[in-house]
Amino acid sequence: MKMPPPFLPFLTSLLLVAAVISAEGAEDNSTFPPRDYILLDCGSSGQTTDARRSDLERRHRSKYAPSLNSVGSQASNQDSSVPQYPYLTARVFTSPFTYSFPLGAGRKYLRLYFYPSDYPNHAANDSLFAVTAGPITLHHNFSAYQTSLALNFAYLIREFSVNVSSAGLNLTFTPVNNHSNSYAFINGIEIVSMPDIFSTVTPLLITGTTPTEYQIQDDWAMKQFTG
Ligand SMILES: *[C@@H]1O[C@H](CO)[C@@H](O)[C@H](O)[C@H]1NC(C)=O
Ligand SMILES: *[C@@H]1O[C@H](CO)[C@@H](O)[C@H](O)[C@H]1NC(C)=O
Ligand SMILES: *[C@@H]1O[C@H](CO)[C@@H](O)[C@H](O)[C@H]1NC(C)=O
Ligand SMILES: *[C@@H]1O[C@H](CO)[C@@H](O)[C@H](O)[C@H]1NC(C)=O
Ligand SMILES: *[C@@H]1O[C@H](CO)[C@@H](O)[C@H](O)[C@H]1NC(C)=O
Ligand SMILES: *[C@@H]1O[C@H](CO)[C@@H](O)[C@H](O)[C@H]1NC(C)=O
Repeated sequence: MKMPPPFLPFLTSLLLVAAVISAEGAEDNSTFPPRDYILLDCGSSGQTTDARRSDLERRHRSKYAPSLNSVGSQASNQDSSVPQYPYLTARVFTSPFTYSFPLGAGRKYLRLYFYPSDYPNHAANDSLFAVTAGPITLHHNFSAYQTSLALNFAYLIREFSVNVSSAGLNLTFTPVNNHSNSYAFINGIEIVSMPDIFSTVTPLLITGTTPTEYQIQDDWAMKQFTG
C-alpha cells in the first residue's frame, strides 16, 4: 500500500509558501508567523504517551468539543504500517457533530485525517458522510473506505484552504440519512493560518500549454488531495 505523509505539522509547507512570497515581494523577507495552529488527535482522551500531543489534547480538546470526554473508538485493524497518531483511534458520529474552533479571521489550511478501518459496532464500508466548514461543503456523500480502496492508500489526508471569519470555524460531520448504519468519523484535524496568497496574486492555472488566469474569490475553499 502507498502511504501518504504521516501526521506532521504543516510548518514545512507553510515556510515554503512564506519563502515563495518573500521571493516575490523583495522588500519583505520576514517569515510568516501562523496565528492559529491546532493539531487535534480526535480519538485521544488526552492520555497519550506522546508528550507533545497529550499536551495539545489537554489544552484543546474541551475547548473544541466539550461533549467528547471519553476515549474515542479504537480501529479494529491496527495495520502496523499506519502511524499510531492520529490514525488508530477515531471519533465516530451517528448524528451530526460540530467542532467549534475559535480562530483569527483569514485563510487557513485545514487537514483532515481518515483511517477507514472497522470501528466497534461500525463496519468500515458503512461510513458515509458529509463534512462542512461553515457554509462550505468540503465532502458530500464521502466514503473514506471506498476512496482509500480506489486509491490503494491505507489512510487518507484531505487538505483544504478555507477563509475563516473572526467568529471562528464550525466543522461539522454529518452521516448521510439514506444509508442504513451510516456514520461519520474523523481521526485527526489540523488547522494552521496561511498567508492570503490568493487575494494578492492572481495565480496562473496552466491547462495544457495555454495559461488561463483565474481570480480566486475570498469565499472559495480549495482542495488538495494527498492520497
Ligand atoms: C531582506 O533581506 C535582505 C538581504 O539579506 C536585506 O538587505 C533586507 O534588509 C531584508 N529586508 C527586510 C525587510 O528584512
Ligand atoms: C475572507 O478573508 C478576508 C480577510 O480576512 C476578508 O476580508 C473577507 O471578508 C473574507 N471573506 C469571506 C467570504 O469570509
Ligand atoms: C459492507 O460489508 C459487509 C461485510 O462484508 C457486507 O455484508 C455489506 O453488504 C457491505 N455494505 C455495503 C454498503 O457495501
Ligand atoms: C454515495 O456514495 C456511495 C458510496 O461510495 C455510492 O455507492 C453512491 O453511488 C454515492 N451516491 C452518489 C449520488 O454519488
Ligand atoms: C444519499 O445522500 C447523499 C447525501 O445526502 C446523496 O449524495 C446521495 O445521492 C444519496 N444516495 C441515494 C442513493 O439517494
Ligand atoms: C458555530 O456554531 C455555534 C452553535 O450552533 C454557533 O453559535 C456559532 O455562531 C457558529 N460559529 C460560526 C463561526 O458559524
